[in-house]
This record gives sequence, C-alpha cells and structure tokens, in this order.
Amino acid sequence: MALLDTAGKETPHIKPDGVPIAETILLPGDPLRAKFIAETYLEDAKGFNEVRNMLGFTGTHQGTPVSVMGTGMGIPSISLYTWELIHVFGVKNLIRVGSCGALQDDVELYDVVLAQGASTDSNFLHQFGLPGAFAPLSSFRLLEAAKRIADEKGQRTHVGNVLSSDVFYSAEPQSSQKWARMGILAVEMESAGLLATAAAAGVDALAIFTVSDQLVKGRHATPEERQTAFTRMIEIALGLA
Ligand code: HPA
Repeated sequence: MALLDTAGKETPHIKPDGVPIAETILLPGDPLRAKFIAETYLEDAKGFNEVRNMLGFTGTHQGTPVSVMGTGMGIPSISLYTWELIHVFGVKNLIRVGSCGALQDDVELYDVVLAQGASTDSNFLHQFGLPGAFAPLSSFRLLEAAKRIADEKGQRTHVGNVLSSDVFYSAEPQSSQKWARMGILAVEMESAGLLATAAAAGVDALAIFTVSDQLVKGRHATPEERQTAFTRMIEIALGLA
C-alpha cells in the first residue's frame, strides 16, 4: 500500500504540513485513541493533523504504511473528515474502529461486530438525490478479510446490519426495539456516513466495533475491559493493511 504525498495540500480540517498519509487509514472516534494506536502499534509514527485536536498519524505496521486519525462523534463529523481524506488526499481504504451498543441478546459485551451494512435514521443520504433508500455497505473485500483474520484469532464476531443513529439520548427509547426486530445487531453513530461517502467516491470502507454496551441487558463495559477488547479489534484492522 502506498504513501500519499501531501505536499502543498491542506483542507479546512486537515493540515498535514507535508507529512504523508497512507492509502489505508484506521478511524477511531476518539483522537486520543488514534494517538494510542499510533504509539502502540505503528513504527516511526509522525503526526499529520492537529487541527481542532483531531489527531492524525502516519507510520508503518510490519513494514506497511498505515495512518490513523480520529473522526469525532456522529455522521457529520466522520463524513467531513473522510470526504477530505478521500477527495483531497487520495485515501483508498478507510476502516472505522469504534464501539457500539448491542441490540440483540446474543451480542455480548466485548464481542466484535463487523458491519455488513449500516442503516440510519439520519438524513445524510438525501444529498445523493436517489429515487429510493440506499443501503450503505462495507467493502466485501475488507469485510471478508476482517472476518477471516478474526476467525484465525479465535475472536467471537457477529456480521450484519448496524444502526448509525443521530440520537444518543432519545425522546423515544422504544424506537431501538423496532430496529432490533429488523435484525439490527447494534447501534453506533457514524458508519452510514463513512460507508456512503466511500461508496459515492468508489473507494473501500469497512466499519468494525467492539461492544461497549449491552443495551438489552443493561450492561456496560468498564474502562479497563474496554481497552482489552479494543486491542483485539485493532489487531484485526491492522491485519487489513
Ligand atoms: N449508543 C450509540 N452509540 C454507541 C453506544 C450506544 O449505546 N455505545 C457505543 N456507541
């Protein structure tokens, strides 16, 4: 995978100052997670963004260039960063590494969810002017490879549809049960924006998560446990680079 030359390029939200960006980028929501991934897993990591503290880094993993950058929370935030990464800098493989709240009984805390697709209650997709409902999907190439790597590691996974919701504190908490009845595995707040932005640009994207909240049983991960589960997911994502 190639490194992309950023000389002379900047956007309102990403100023790399000539530090290259890799064709493959891992995208946690939290910029401090991006810093942790860079410090823990990448060799020779250099920062390529500090605008609004949305930290981004480029380094290598087992000799292959990889970048990692925070996206912030919500569809608008991840969509604007990924639009700029794709259209201005030429990024080709975008992998969201996030957390989610499980909506099904058998999706346990710390399991890994691989989003085959992301349904949404957001209006973001209206911009494409389609005469119907678009189904934002993960890249099958990345999805299949991620599933294989997870299986090799003995990691418990669930592959299917997730909900990318605009709402965290809902005025109608029952609405998640309606999504659960349609087989939605889990809820998070970004992936439909990422997958649709990538689809419109013809590049590959994937969304994977660790389950940090079991919403059916009312269980929530402790910060320490979150870290362990998060580590296993990052190793799956890095295997894709
Ligand atoms: N809701 C939405 N997004 C989330 C959750 C949740 O319960 N847990 C982790 N991301």
